[in-house]
Amino acid sequence: LPIAVLVSGSGSNLQSIIDRIEVGALDAEIKLVISNKANAYGIQRAKKYGLPYKVLLHNDFRSREDFDQAMVDAIHAAGIGEDGLVVMAGFMRIVTTTFLSPFEGRVINIHPALLPSFPGVNGQADAADYGVKIAGCTVHFVDEQMDHGPVIIQAAVPCQAGEDGDALEPRILKMEHRIFPQAIQWFAERRLKIVGRHVELAVSGR
Ligand code: GRF
Repeated sequence: LPIAVLVSGSGSNLQSIIDRIEVGALDAEIKLVISNKANAYGIQRAKKYGLPYKVLLHNDFRSREDFDQAMVDAIHAAGIGEDGLVVMAGFMRIVTTTFLSPFEGRVINIHPALLPSFPGVNGQADAADYGVKIAGCTVHFVDEQMDHGPVIIQAAVPCQAGEDGDALEPRILKMEHRIFPQAIQWFAERRLKIVGRHVELAVSGR
């Protein structure tokens, strides 16, 4: 499965995908890594593994749509055609229909909370501050609304007494590194079927 991975930060989810591919546990090929931040450590990881990468800075574009179109063009140029998957791994930007339409049903995102609870940029802290006993993370298909698309897989992470977002973050991240590659593998096996808001996991490739 050809994939493009979009990062904005450290890229530890990118790393977990690289690692799973290396050991043969993930039938995917990273054709491109895109970041909207020049200093994203995820770009260093791409360089280290000789992966094609591209930094696109929003300030270089007149509008959000122009930025999104540049991403679409880069992803297509990297060889992601009709069957590829776009993986948003800590990509801290809202994408528009300019980006989503060409990749309908083929964009997934990881969120560090159990959606629909605690959407947005502070999922871990929002959950901890709310006093949840169970936190977690979600992989979902991306639609026009932030952190809203059909859920593919989730993992629960117990929140211990007195833990704040900072204490919870690394424990959630550990689970992210397990469920994100799993979701990508299911997509590679063509086992994910979107029925309305629901994602059905077929027993084997459909
Ligand atoms: C992860 O916690 C992810 O859930 C959130 O941003 C973080 C990305 O971390 N969207 P990394 O860049 O993959 O290390």
